[in-house]
Parts: sequence; structure tokens; C-alpha cells
Amino acid sequence: MEWMGTPKVSAAHEISATALPLDALRKVPRRAIALLRMTVLSRGPQLLLVSFRCMSRRGKFITFEGLDGTGKSTQMRKLAAVLREAGHKVVETREPGGTATGEKIRKVALDSGTAGLAPLAEMALMFASRAQHIAEVIEPGLAAGAIVLCDRFTDSTEAYQGSGRRLGSEAVRELHRVLCGNLQPDLTILMDSNPQASVNRARRRNQRVSKSSSRSHDENRFEQETRSFFGRVRDGYLAIAKREPGRVAIVDARGTPGQTHQKILEILSSKLALAGPKRTHHVR
Ligand code: TYD
Repeated sequence: MEWMGTPKVSAAHEISATALPLDALRKVPRRAIALLRMTVLSRGPQLLLVSFRCMSRRGKFITFEGLDGTGKSTQMRKLAAVLREAGHKVVETREPGGTATGEKIRKVALDSGTAGLAPLAEMALMFASRAQHIAEVIEPGLAAGAIVLCDRFTDSTEAYQGSGRRLGSEAVRELHRVLCGNLQPDLTILMDSNPQASVNRARRRNQRVSKSSSRSHDENRFEQETRSFFGRVRDGYLAIAKREPGRVAIVDARGTPGQTHQKILEILSSKLALAGPKRTHHVR
């Protein structure tokens, strides 16, 4: 709340009436303004008397990343259960997908029947899904004070399209700035594993799902890629983690699901102090 200047913040996140120079108001981030009910009590060219009441605290955005078959979805589910138990409001979502439009894009992007998709078109599909997802699910969730857990986000595009398809990191980061408002996760769990073992696991899983369902589409397009493609994807991920060590925590995903879950809980409590003892989440 440094941007507030002089107001006092009570335990209930209430900011009492005070005098603020206009300059201070200009510095208030636009997102924060959306969270505040602002009552102008008095006017004046240089000073406004305003009363702010936080409607809710902005939530946290946590993403899960890694090669196919590293167990991201399982870990995300386990974490969601712990966070809900601790009293947090949690949104679980995924990319590509997460919205009705995004799920349609997912079918096109992942179906092995989508032949000859150009790498740039593939990247554009990922960002189209993401822009819709941010507008429809992620931002509203964060604004409502929820912890938004997302299975893959822009790091996937940087690793798969930027590094795997050799489109480069800069193109991905630029598109992220333009199309996603440069939204950054508060924390990214990067599940690291042996590329061959995890991709084989994903292939077996997707074949099982394809056989057991009557769906006319599958999600096997990426699993058909070569070993060197997945090697580049892993290198891309590790480069992101090296560039942004404060945001990205690497988790060795080769242990049992229970062991990996414990590591993730430790990261959460040290980085965000979220998975600790039960507490009440205030959404006012
Ligand atoms: P996902 O459903 O997470 O697969 P898995 O559970 O096997 O890890 O992701 C589907 C595929 O989409 C995965 O192979 C990676 C790919 N992908 C990209 O190539 N770029 C992206 O930006 C995203 C979000 C996913």
C-alpha cells in the first residue's frame, strides 16, 4: 500500500479518510483502482479528500509449468485441496483452454489431426486462448481475491514455441506484453523431469484417453514431437528459471506424487506464506 502515501490501513484492509495530493492518485495502479470503492468527500484543485475501502485484496496467480507428463495437473489438484482447506478461495484452470472459446482453440492446437500448422499460427492460437482466458477467468479471479492456479501460461509458449519451435523468446515476450498486458504470475512451479520419461508417460496417458473415449479428436499432436524438440523445450524452461529466479521455482518431479507435493508446499510457504495454518480469507 506504499502508493497510498498517508492513509492508515486497518486490520480489515480499510483505509480511512485522508487528504491526498492529485499526484498520489495518478500513481495508483489501474488494477488497484478497480478494487477500491472511492468516495470523494471534498474537492479542490490540488487536494481531494477521499475515503477508500478495499473491496477485496488482490489474489495470487500461481502457474504450473513443465514438459508433458511431469504430473502438473495432479500436483495442481493436490495444492488446490490444501489451499481450500486453509480457507482460500481457489480457481483451477488451464491453458490452452480455460474458457469456452479457449477449449475450442485447444482442440485445434492439440489434435493430431491438425496437420501442417505453421509455428507462428500455433503461437498465435496459444495467445488467442490466453488473452480470452485472462479477460474471462484470470483477472476476474484475482480481482475477487482468489488464488488462481493455472496449468501452463506464457512460459509454455516461450519454452514450446520460442525454444522448441525456435521462434525465439523475444517474439513471445513481446506478444505477451501486447496481448496479455504483461501479466506475470506471483509464483511459477516448474516441474522438472527427464524429458524422455515424462513424454513417454504423457503418450501412454493420451493413448489410454483416446481409446477409452468416443471423442472424434485427440490431444496427441505435441507428443509426436522428437526427443530433440523436448530437449529444447526443457532448455527453454531452465533458461526462464535462470532469468527469473524470484518467480520460478524448480521442483524435481522425479519422486512420488506425495514427495513432490511436499516440496511444492514448502515453496509456497516460503515464497507466499499461503499454505500455512487455516485462516479466514476476507472478501468484502
Ligand atoms: P497440457 O494439457 O498441459 O499437456 P500435459 O498434461 O501433457 O502436460 O498441454 C498441452 C500441450 O500444449 C503441451 O504439449 C504443451 C502445449 N502448449 C504449447 O505448446 N504452448 C503453450 O503456450 C501452451 C499453453 C501449451
